[in-house]
Amino acid sequence: RKKRLTTADITALKGVRPVVSLTAYTTPIAKLLDPHCDLLLVGDSLGMVLYGLPNTIPVTMEMMIAHGQAVMRGVENACVIVDMPFGSYQEGPEQAFRNAARLMKETGCDGVKLEGGAEMAETISFLTLRGIPVMGHVGLMPQQVNASGGYRSLGRTTAEAEKIKRDALAVGHSGAFSMVVEGTIEPLAREISDDCPIPTIGIGASPACDGQVLVVDDMLGVFTDFKPRFVKHFASLAPVISRAVEDYAAEVKARSFPGPEHTFQMKKQPL
Ligand code: KIV
Ligand code: NA
Repeated sequence: RKKRLTTADITALKGVRPVVSLTAYTTPIAKLLDPHCDLLLVGDSLGMVLYGLPNTIPVTMEMMIAHGQAVMRGVENACVIVDMPFGSYQEGPEQAFRNAARLMKETGCDGVKLEGGAEMAETISFLTLRGIPVMGHVGLMPQQVNASGGYRSLGRTTAEAEKIKRDALAVGHSGAFSMVVEGTIEPLAREISDDCPIPTIGIGASPACDGQVLVVDDMLGVFTDFKPRFVKHFASLAPVISRAVEDYAAEVKARSFPGPEHTFQMKKQPL
């Protein structure tokens, strides 16, 4: 049986071909994505797309562990990275190591992701030097929503672009095996990708990145509360689900479901 991709394999794809990545949160969906993806991210976006939370701030270690375990059960090809939730790593390297080690031990994932720029470089080094592969995440950082005053694309002013470039370079030289670049204008994403030694995985950060990631419920058209510009619906499953449930309701009311083929009689029948 083929071995799963490692974080080193992901790093080695820079300059070779784009890294294909999606989020995943459950076993059955992970099984469907796995053959086509290099990297599956158990993102803290699950707070919004699975739990109906307003943002990623309330997501807990227990939620990330449960969904990390579920994804690991469905994967035999892709590298699996689990997001560190808000509050589990910002205190310092020791707290980050304790929680990252717990994610690794309890899920069997290949590494963790955490948000932050230059201020997180020391923490990323601390983890990677002690055996925990780390994916960085710069640009738009959803866990900063309360401090940054909402979600918007970044890099249009020189000051903003310079700050994000410094952050990306700090993460790029901290030992991280790759980094997500989120919500940045194309020229900035291109400069970061050109200047950083590790693959940049873009979301809302142009095709200049070394790979792409999307939230799976967004790209399948399951989560339709809002659609940012950077989301493409590769399928529209929400209306498919609505129609199926509408049909089910009608058939239950008409007693046409269940039919004879779904019904057990006295004569022995297989389940
Ligand atoms: O939580 C998440 O899904 C993410 C990706 C979209 C990068 O961080
Ligand atoms: Na995330």
